[in-house]
Amino acid sequence: MSDRAIRHRERTYPPPYPDGWYRLAASKDIRPGEVRHVQCVGEQIALFRSTTDGTVAAVDAFCPHQGANLADGVVKGDRLQCPFHGWQLDGHGRILSHPRAAAQPPAHRHWEAIDYYGMIMMYRSARPGARAPYRLPPLATIDSRQLVLRGQYDAGEVDMHIIEFAENSVDFQHFPELHGVMRIPWTSIRLPWIRIRHEPSWSLDDTQEHVSYFGDEATLEIGGRVYERTRSRALITFLGPGSIVKFDFSVPRVGNVIMFQTHTPVAALKQRVTFRWFAARRVPRILVSYVVGNWISQWRQDVAIWKRKIYRPLRSRPADAGPRGMMHRWYRRFYPDGPVANLSEGSEHGS
Ligand code: FES
Ligand SMILES: [Fe+2]
Repeated sequence: MSDRAIRHRERTYPPPYPDGWYRLAASKDIRPGEVRHVQCVGEQIALFRSTTDGTVAAVDAFCPHQGANLADGVVKGDRLQCPFHGWQLDGHGRILSHPRAAAQPPAHRHWEAIDYYGMIMMYRSARPGARAPYRLPPLATIDSRQLVLRGQYDAGEVDMHIIEFAENSVDFQHFPELHGVMRIPWTSIRLPWIRIRHEPSWSLDDTQEHVSYFGDEATLEIGGRVYERTRSRALITFLGPGSIVKFDFSVPRVGNVIMFQTHTPVAALKQRVTFRWFAARRVPRILVSYVVGNWISQWRQDVAIWKRKIYRPLRSRPADAGPRGMMHRWYRRFYPDGPVANLSEGSEHGS
């Protein structure tokens, strides 16, 4: 697709970087004393890990002094030292050591960063330095080692806008058309004699404003007969605008699988996408892979659509006002700075 065509598509969408927790790297990729340059969510970030307490920190990559790239610097304890003139700053953007202490510069741009189940997450905000308005939840079944890490998959860069994942969850009509046929897990190869019957649902959380739920119950139908014992459930929890979502799969003979899917925008229509899943140690690898691979196969069908489409705001399709309108109203909270281009108000009757 030409640059012009991509720009045309881009203009139809809401802004590319809603506020939320974004995955910047795998925890293991930044060891104590290491620093790395990360470009995403419209920012250039120096991501480093302290040797003092092992915490991660994310600061604007360009030194407040004369703009050297801090990711070329070195970590000293819990500070990052610039390679050019040796200024040091900490993860809160405080400049703690520089030659002319009298002229204390203002705090350097920085973002809250944490390790979360093997992922380094950063709270991207239109107002850098602001404390994140919500935390990512601890998960008892992983903390107690009832479920352990069973795999991960880095899908690379996918051509899509981040809102498409949330749009997908309220677009019930596309399920029979796009996701109605079984595929060999991990592939796009159709098994046309096995149909999948979906029962999707979407709801908000009563107490946590940043959370919404997308549920799907899927049952297999073979030769026109529905096999009730194949019924599996997926509850997908949006922990923000789709930058990180948590899957709770419940599947016969496999039990529970928890999976994180992350979207990190590196450009308006380009997301870095990763998957990371946890299951009981005793469940055979092939069964866990079957569950995750089924999702990946169906997700690829969505990707094929997303990478070539434009965004149609709700006002031109009032018939969709129900769940889609609700979702838009919920989604607006991730753009706290006022009117959002191309995103409907999501009133009860559409807009
Ligand atoms: S540019 Fe960083 S200390 Fe001068
Ligand atoms: Fe879909």
